[in-house]
Amino acid sequence: MTDIRSDFPIFESHPDLVYLDSASTAQKPAAVIDAVAEYLERGYANIHRGSYELSELSESLYKESKIAVARLIGAESHYEIAYSNNATGAFNLLAGSMARSGWLKTGDRVLLSIVEHHANVVPWMMLRESLGIEVEFVGLNADYELDMADFVAKLTPNTKVVSFTWCSNVTGVGVNFPEVNDAIGKYWQAEWGKPPYRIMDASQLVPHGPVDVVANGLDFAVFTGHKMWADPGIGILWGKKELLKSMEPCIGGGGAINFVHTDGYEVSGLPYRFEPGTPNLTGAVSLLTAVEYFESVGGYPEVAETERELVEYALEEFAERSETVTLVGPTVAVLPSGAIRAGVFSFTVEGKHVTDVADAFAAEDVCVRAGHHCAEPFHIRQEISGTVRMSISMYTTQDDLEKFFEVLDDIVRKPR
Ligand code: ALA
Repeated sequence: MTDIRSDFPIFESHPDLVYLDSASTAQKPAAVIDAVAEYLERGYANIHRGSYELSELSESLYKESKIAVARLIGAESHYEIAYSNNATGAFNLLAGSMARSGWLKTGDRVLLSIVEHHANVVPWMMLRESLGIEVEFVGLNADYELDMADFVAKLTPNTKVVSFTWCSNVTGVGVNFPEVNDAIGKYWQAEWGKPPYRIMDASQLVPHGPVDVVANGLDFAVFTGHKMWADPGIGILWGKKELLKSMEPCIGGGGAINFVHTDGYEVSGLPYRFEPGTPNLTGAVSLLTAVEYFESVGGYPEVAETERELVEYALEEFAERSETVTLVGPTVAVLPSGAIRAGVFSFTVEGKHVTDVADAFAAEDVCVRAGHHCAEPFHIRQEISGTVRMSISMYTTQDDLEKFFEVLDDIVRKPR
């Protein structure tokens, strides 16, 4: 097991910090911080047709960043990667562009799971308002995975999109895409036309496990850089090349056109078709370095081993407190389906308000989060107003978790 904690300067400047809010945003390794500083000090210039050396250097780093991201998610080419400002921006870009391309029309259905993050809900709801599409939610089974019977029942001939998370930012598990693919293969009827587009919200999965866009039969995937040790302000839209080439962008401007005349314009091809304006260049450099750093410390095999031990430990500790502390998510590290539970633990404490619990943790320098975590439909379905969430990353230690459970015990013992 690689100890990477000392690579994250935040823990040096805050020696007592117990940072258990990585599902919200992850801390940054020195490699990323240094690379961004060096880029700004020595290599910064705008991209797009600058013929001088600094601009060419910047452009090549931007391209390398996309090559690294393509490698990380198993994409065939960096031309399939478009950058946006975050996962929410990427979802808005995708939904808006699908609508603008006529791929979604009045009466078409978008299927989501009930545990989706608002980033994968609101853009579709906005199309419900503007276009009259249907947005339908599929429930979860007792293991917090997709209820496949409900999915099949809701897979109607007008279903044009299925868009799911494989790792919820609340429960740590999500939708098993191979199962979804099998169900579509089995129940989709040829006379219904083209099967639905398959979209994955990979924001929470990418830091913990491989996305494998091709192996999972996806058409599009969306995630964010800041949960993956990169800067905030960079989001990723991956799409199959032939789809991105034919999809009409819903945003436009300089850098994403072949020409603009007084009577019209022509949108450019890939890779810049979906990136009008100056992109987040430092974000791209940070993402490049974050991916390279992640690979240098062992990548997914290493993260799986490190986090598995922490997840198993946390689950045992939660189990010992199950009379007063209720986990809203699987209580096992590996589900009967074979799915791996990520280190995202949302819970409630009997008789305590979630905000009071998070405040009590904060008073002890333990960073957790309270609320609905941008997944309000799920909390409403569970009939709870909110949860407290503790979440780990590869830099989390057993000591962090021990401190967390010590403070949790104090909170439970404290009179109301
Ligand atoms: N999406 C982030 C979270 O889950 C902010 O907390």
